[in-house]
Amino acid sequence: MKGEEGHHDHVPVYESGSEVLQKLQEKWNSTKQQRYPAMYSSVVGGIILDPLMMVIPIDDHMVHRGHGVFDTAMLSNGYLYELDSHLDRLLLSASKAKISSPFSRETLRAILVQMTAASKCRNGSIKYWLSAGPGDFLLSPKGCTAPAFYAVVIASSATAAAAAAGGHPRLREGVRAITSTVPMKDPFFAAMKSVNYLANALAMAEAEERGAYASVWVDGDGGVAEGPMMNVAFVTGGGDLVVPAFDRVLSGCTARRVLALAPRLVDAGVLRSVGAARISAADARRCAEMMFVGSGLPLLPIVEWDGQPVGDGQVGKIALALSNMLCEDIKAGQDRVLVPYDQAS
Ligand SMILES: Cc1ncc(COP(=O)(O)O)c(C=O)c1O
Repeated sequence: MKGEEGHHDHVPVYESGSEVLQKLQEKWNSTKQQRYPAMYSSVVGGIILDPLMMVIPIDDHMVHRGHGVFDTAMLSNGYLYELDSHLDRLLLSASKAKISSPFSRETLRAILVQMTAASKCRNGSIKYWLSAGPGDFLLSPKGCTAPAFYAVVIASSATAAAAAAGGHPRLREGVRAITSTVPMKDPFFAAMKSVNYLANALAMAEAEERGAYASVWVDGDGGVAEGPMMNVAFVTGGGDLVVPAFDRVLSGCTARRVLALAPRLVDAGVLRSVGAARISAADARRCAEMMFVGSGLPLLPIVEWDGQPVGDGQVGKIALALSNMLCEDIKAGQDRVLVPYDQAS
């Protein structure tokens, strides 16, 4: 046996942590695995800068039972975008999942800002989790020592806003979507951002296997729901911007931002109306424009759905106008938190 397989002729036993660390270091050095610039762990009680130490206990119920919730926020030019909306949604997800936060909202926010400052990273995103916590391998959270909070900074060379400003090919050319055959989540589970993303991962894999960018769920009543990690939006032939109502899908922060910004296009006479409403797949297929909306995209025009052109099959002018408005909001809007890099020790 050779290489990795060879190890299993005689499985090595590492008694000391330093041996394990050395092995991890060798592994990291031999791969192109991305290094994360900072992590926070309430189990450790602080910010971790060494990527080798960015770990979660294996008996954490989030790991073996999926009893955890998460959220994210974009980091653009040293500002965290819409951090408060994402934090509110995290706490809402946690309360639905019966996870109590180990810290107040104010402390969670302060940890995220300090972690980002300590990372020195200015562009990318942060992700953070509230978990039932480590303690045992049972199902009931009663044996967990304490709920846990974890967070990480993910660096990215280009922000979505910069990519959009530069006319990223996906924005210029649009993307393809398919209707997912993977069963969608029950509204109770779809409305909370839990770590149970198996349906979402399978829906994404299905899209990729079929040469599409992502898939779209249609619910049992024929209504359009959402994508595996984004909402969708439509522009009808009459100029109404419709986002599928949030009663069966995740209430997306980006989609809500689109709903708040788009009335400017009504004032400008470009759109007739803007709203969240049920839209059947049959009506949606007759729309002039269709787009994916979500943190990190932040907007991608869909030019083909299930092999059929959306509208005239070209990137629509409303999608481009909304994308510009979102990018401007990420760059210079009100809802940004300046990261105090100079105060990080
Ligand atoms: C299932 C699902 N729907 C919608 C969204 C879009 O939400 P947001 O705009 O807050 O990123 C996400 C992304 O988090 C998602 O995972």
